[in-house]
Amino acid sequence: MSAPKKLYIKTYGCQMNVYDSERMAETLGGQGYVETKSPDDADMILLNTCHIREKAAEKVYSELGRFKGLKADKPDLKIGVAGCVAQAEGEEIMRRQPLVDLVVGPQSYHRLPEMEAKAGQGEKVLDTDFPEEDKFEKLKRRPKAKRGPTAFLTVQEGCDKFCAFCVVPYTRGAEVSRPVDRILTEARDLVERGVREITLLGQNVNAYHGGGPSGGDWSLAQLIWELDKVDGLERIRFTTSHPNDMQDDLIEAHGSCKKLMPYLHLPVQAGSDRILKRMNRSHTAESYLRVIERIRAARPDILISGDFIVGFPEETEEDFQATLDLIEEVKYGTAYSFKYSTRPGTPAAERPQVDVAEADDRLQRLQALLTQQQKEIQDSMVGREVGVLFERAGRKPGQMVGKSDYLHSVHVEDCGREIGDLARVRIVESRTNSLAGELID
Ligand code: 5AD
Ligand code: SF4
Repeated sequence: MSAPKKLYIKTYGCQMNVYDSERMAETLGGQGYVETKSPDDADMILLNTCHIREKAAEKVYSELGRFKGLKADKPDLKIGVAGCVAQAEGEEIMRRQPLVDLVVGPQSYHRLPEMEAKAGQGEKVLDTDFPEEDKFEKLKRRPKAKRGPTAFLTVQEGCDKFCAFCVVPYTRGAEVSRPVDRILTEARDLVERGVREITLLGQNVNAYHGGGPSGGDWSLAQLIWELDKVDGLERIRFTTSHPNDMQDDLIEAHGSCKKLMPYLHLPVQAGSDRILKRMNRSHTAESYLRVIERIRAARPDILISGDFIVGFPEETEEDFQATLDLIEEVKYGTAYSFKYSTRPGTPAAERPQVDVAEADDRLQRLQALLTQQQKEIQDSMVGREVGVLFERAGRKPGQMVGKSDYLHSVHVEDCGREIGDLARVRIVESRTNSLAGELID
């Protein structure tokens, strides 16, 4: 038998890319590839890229440049670009970086084996189609291969919302939901392989409406309740949601489904109705706050997380203040905030831009407020009992690290538990970006 070929995948951007990278690696496993942690001994390098902000795309080009020496030493080395930059700029990548042998968009991953074969014969291959066939059905899984206690599972992909700043509707295409039975099969397989927590993924995951087993579409809440019945699966999460798709049954599930964790990522982007309108968000600050209120009524301890953009075209200081006001009202347990980044081809790219120094200053002020809230909520965990799923050994002997129900990192000394164990823990200390806890017998 010939030695296995080595595949190095580097993943940028969101959790869906993490999931996709895993599926690509398993699929290429069928072509005799095993994964390696270093590009130096790889036979194939794949960069799974993100196009959401300008910097993300630039990183890809600089990373590609760094592989020049490797390719010179090993002419058979194949270099591929996957993901959203591949989708958006595939041809330009081929032109700009002759090192690249293969470009594959997110909807064509199942065609990787054929593409790899062609690249092996010295062809340059590019596939950024939006094919009819279901890529998930064609992407291979490595059955029975053991894996860690947490996993992502894509249930919905693409977006029809067309927020004025966002490339996702162009790079990932229209909203598509996977059928319920395929998701259940995949979830059961993951659980058999050691998974205890599944995060359901979708760009608009709460708009999920996949075909049910006996016809008719199922909502995300229905899917969650079905997953709730899977023995061995202990925790369910989902991300990312849109405020307008928070249906009653989903809110209700947060109150009554024990396996559904008390954490919700619900981006609002901005707090000014004028800006929200220009962003084409189709909700107001007030309607967002009402949604949060309903969720908290169902699950009072839920931790809310958000995304924010500052310096969106034409954002004034007054608009920005409205964002700060909204943050004050919601109190976020964690948040991701970004300076607006012009994305070619999106409606907002054509509009008058906010001064860069001004946007920088707003981002700093926004992040200061969010960091303070995050700290307050983290500190308020001290003394509380939480569930913790252990994911890895800590740096100190006997120490284990896991995630709480609220997705805080928790360290436990002299733990005596294994990776994959779920335990009750009392939080004893709040540190920078993590908590310390003790097992409760
Ligand atoms: N500029 C800055 N941030 C953006 N996001 C999406 N597009 C842009 C952009 N053009 C942010 C949004 C989104 C998150 C994934 O990335 O906050 O929710
Ligand atoms: Fe982008 Fe808006 Fe769709 Fe989210 S909802 S992926 S921000 S267009």
